[in-house]
Amino acid sequence: MPSLEQRTPKSIIRFSEDVNIGLGRLGFMSLKISVIGLGYLGATHCVAMSKLGHTVIGIEPNQAKIDSLKSGHAGFFEPGLDEELAKQIASGRLTFQSSHDEGSRDVDVHFICVGTPQKDGSLAADTSYLHSAIKDLAPYLSKDAVVAGKSTVPVGTAALLTIELTNLAGFAPNLAWNPEFLREGTALEDSLNPDRLVVGVTNQHSEDKLREVFAPMISSGIPFIVTDLATAELVKAAANAFLATKISFINAMAEIAEVSGADATQLATAIGYDERIGNKFLRNGVGFGGGCLPKDIRALMARAEELGVGQSVAYLKEIDKINIRRRDRVIDMLTQELGTLKGKKVLVLGAAFKPDSDDVRDSPALEIASLIQGAGATAVVHDPIALSGVNKKHPELTTQQDLMKAFDGVDAVVLATEWQEYRQLDPATVSGVANKLIIDGRNVLDIAKWQQAGFKVLALGKTIKN
Ligand SMILES: NC(=O)c1ccc[n+]([C@@H]2O[C@H](COP(=O)([O-])OP(=O)(O)OC[C@H]3O[C@@H](n4cnc5c(N)ncnc54)[C@H](O)[C@@H]3O)[C@@H](O)[C@H]2O)c1
Repeated sequence: MPSLEQRTPKSIIRFSEDVNIGLGRLGFMSLKISVIGLGYLGATHCVAMSKLGHTVIGIEPNQAKIDSLKSGHAGFFEPGLDEELAKQIASGRLTFQSSHDEGSRDVDVHFICVGTPQKDGSLAADTSYLHSAIKDLAPYLSKDAVVAGKSTVPVGTAALLTIELTNLAGFAPNLAWNPEFLREGTALEDSLNPDRLVVGVTNQHSEDKLREVFAPMISSGIPFIVTDLATAELVKAAANAFLATKISFINAMAEIAEVSGADATQLATAIGYDERIGNKFLRNGVGFGGGCLPKDIRALMARAEELGVGQSVAYLKEIDKINIRRRDRVIDMLTQELGTLKGKKVLVLGAAFKPDSDDVRDSPALEIASLIQGAGATAVVHDPIALSGVNKKHPELTTQQDLMKAFDGVDAVVLATEWQEYRQLDPATVSGVANKLIIDGRNVLDIAKWQQAGFKVLALGKTIKN
């Protein structure tokens, strides 16, 4: 350790396969697994583990979530997940319950998937859910069981949890860290076919058990990186910091493009051909959001500060600021075009932080909607699937489920989430927009088509001749 097994050509495990992988038939062991915390990560992980052929108990204190999962609904929108969830429940391998019971005593691996949101009034991560999950688990933990954290945590958390669990259980636990890299929208596919598996361990037993858990994936050629706890924790924080940096980098270039007449989209294409740079995560727009990147870069800054090396990632403060400035830029563009926002009505297309998800945590679209309201206008929000989350979290915003009705009587439109529905929309069918102004916050619209339909089109990172 650390060791890295290089990827051999992988025979991809497709989540759409109808037949579950027969572990015994393939010579792999079927294990008993618990998954603790059943949000986006945990619910997906349960299904993935059951799909691999393991017996899985999902544990989650929120009874409404348990009821929903038992009835085959993950409780959030994720393409293909509910269908696979129902199949795995029907297989008899996947069950759900609200707390540990005797059945937890002979679990081989407990995966901890609880939330680590940003603390109120601080940049740091709130790790209290991890501590309570450990406390609940301790009375049922066996000496052989492996406890594998999957949540994204500040480096050093696993070491603290080891001490805590040792005190609670009365023996040294096999604590490991196995960060998750899934992306919402392709969560199950990503869980079963990640670019790499990373496990931080402190003993051979933990490594062996985790190898057994992921055996079909490892044998299909997915790189399996075995390292120490701190590296495993930091891998996830570093990956997200890098991705956020890439997005804010192109958005910083967009700021320069906007005042110099350059085109940030073409710029991204041109630099992206350099394979050292690559073109992924290099599209300028209203920036990143969601339940991971914003809180993870802030948590990394906070943790580096605690460790006395705050300067090492001080630049992330600017990455965060560039991201936030992109939303302000949309408000500036609207104000410039409409004169004032007071008394106006603006339609925001999209509420989810990205398409194919109903996650509205730290959503750029909702921040733009809130800024519009703050400037004295009414923001009307449309989203194909995420409006219930908006109504719950932002009751002050007006929502409209019907896309065509949403345009009715608004002064301008902002495209904030690049749902396929908006990209494919025929602008000739859109009526009721007073100023026929649309701001493309994601650089995905067919500008000429919208202009032909009489719209003035503005976009981030470029100057459009209208
Ligand atoms: N959502 C993603 O795309 C994603 C991807 C990779 C990593 N992660 C990381 O995974 C972790 C979970 O994220 P999420 O998006 O699933 O969060 P989430 O808020 O959707 O889910 C967390 C769940 O944990 C449950 N929980 C809280 N305390 C518990 C306890 N003591 N015992 C059992 N369950 C408990 C909550 O009720 C909730 O259902 C975070 O650290 C996140 O950064 C998330």
